[in-house]
Amino acid sequence: MIARARILRNFSNGARACLECRMTNTRTLGPLDRLLDSAQNALSTVLGGVRAERPNPGRAEADVVLDDAERRHAAGLMRINHVGEVCAQALYIGQAAVARDPATRDQLLAAAQEETDHLAWCGDRLRELDSRPSLLNPLWYAGSYAIGALAGLRGDGWNLGFVVETERQVEAHIGEHLQSLPEADQRSRAILRVMQADEARHAEHAQAAGAKVLPAPIPSLMAAASKLMKTVAYRV
Ligand SMILES: [Fe+2]
Ligand SMILES: [Fe+2]
Repeated sequence: MIARARILRNFSNGARACLECRMTNTRTLGPLDRLLDSAQNALSTVLGGVRAERPNPGRAEADVVLDDAERRHAAGLMRINHVGEVCAQALYIGQAAVARDPATRDQLLAAAQEETDHLAWCGDRLRELDSRPSLLNPLWYAGSYAIGALAGLRGDGWNLGFVVETERQVEAHIGEHLQSLPEADQRSRAILRVMQADEARHAEHAQAAGAKVLPAPIPSLMAAASKLMKTVAYRV
């Protein structure tokens, strides 16, 4: 029986690259395939060339002109969310690169694909707000990839435990941003509401697939790293 998970990434220049992961009895991805897939993901994520597969939920809302202070605040928050999605991509691709069970690897790659939509929507909104992604995205990506690969080397239960903890923390900070965004910025709110629902679902799926509860102090360290990222990414 052939089970196949296909990860499609759409690039803004119209070219399509297909990262195809096959679970067959005859062929599995080799180390070089995985390295090339990881490098391709890193480049498209960091260079901002990704395109969403689902429509941007913000586009259904009116693009109200914000005053300068509101626009800068909204851009700072959406830059944090964009960095969060860069980190999520890197974590999942790093974890998938070392996952032992093909089903776990497929689940990680499927979650990464949905994060691609989030990444593209946040990038769209930053442009609409006359702003830009974090200049430190290569650094965020490299750090998160390393953390993901290290977690993955501890086994698939840990891998999934990391997914649950990451998604729960992202879901919580999106909740804070929904409170803090300017009232008039309904476009950013619409994007964040869909992202929040997706993150909750990713966490539930990982939980159901056998995630281990991460021992202390890992969740606190992750929260501290996330706080540092948010402080820096709001500005840079
Ligand atoms: Fe996400
Ligand atoms: Fe997610």
